[in-house]
Amino acid sequence: MQRTLILLKPDCVQRRLMGQIISRFEAKGLNFVAMKLLQITPELAKQHYAEHVEKGWYPTLEEFITGGPVLAGVLEGLEAVQVVRDMLGATSGLKAAPGTIRGDFSSSRQMNLVHGSDGEEAAAREIGLYFKPEELVANTPTITPWIRAADEA
Ligand code: CDP
Ligand code: MG
Repeated sequence: MQRTLILLKPDCVQRRLMGQIISRFEAKGLNFVAMKLLQITPELAKQHYAEHVEKGWYPTLEEFITGGPVLAGVLEGLEAVQVVRDMLGATSGLKAAPGTIRGDFSSSRQMNLVHGSDGEEAAAREIGLYFKPEELVANTPTITPWIRAADEA
């Protein structure tokens, strides 16, 4: 079982797409174990996007990601890190395949609606940036036996 961090970015919140995006993760069989609305500060943005801080386009990314509230969530599921990345699609909404979240809802390289951790190490680091350990709850819905066979987990 893996956990991964998602952010519904400011464009997603402003465009009132949170419900539709959350629905997709629920329908897939992923479980939310934490969720909160917050405003990202420039300091948190630099920590979150540490690998991109030196890039020429970072200032506009920081302006975007701090420009309105985001919804941060932790999703749990089998192979959750890769499953979520695949559901998001390529970084640019113009390149992301139809059927993916970015492919269906985004026409932008920057305003691509949702962040998902890109590996298990990144997931652990990013979950720690947004949530205290006690903010994560146990959440195994009773319908789980109808989501996958018992020997798959
Ligand atoms: O989010 P993902 O891992 O797919 O992409 P990334 O290459 O790690 O870039 C992080 C985020 O920076 C993207 O999701 C975009 O919102 C933004 N970005 C940007 O503003 N301009 C670029 N040229 C590339 C990415
Ligand atoms: Mg990335």
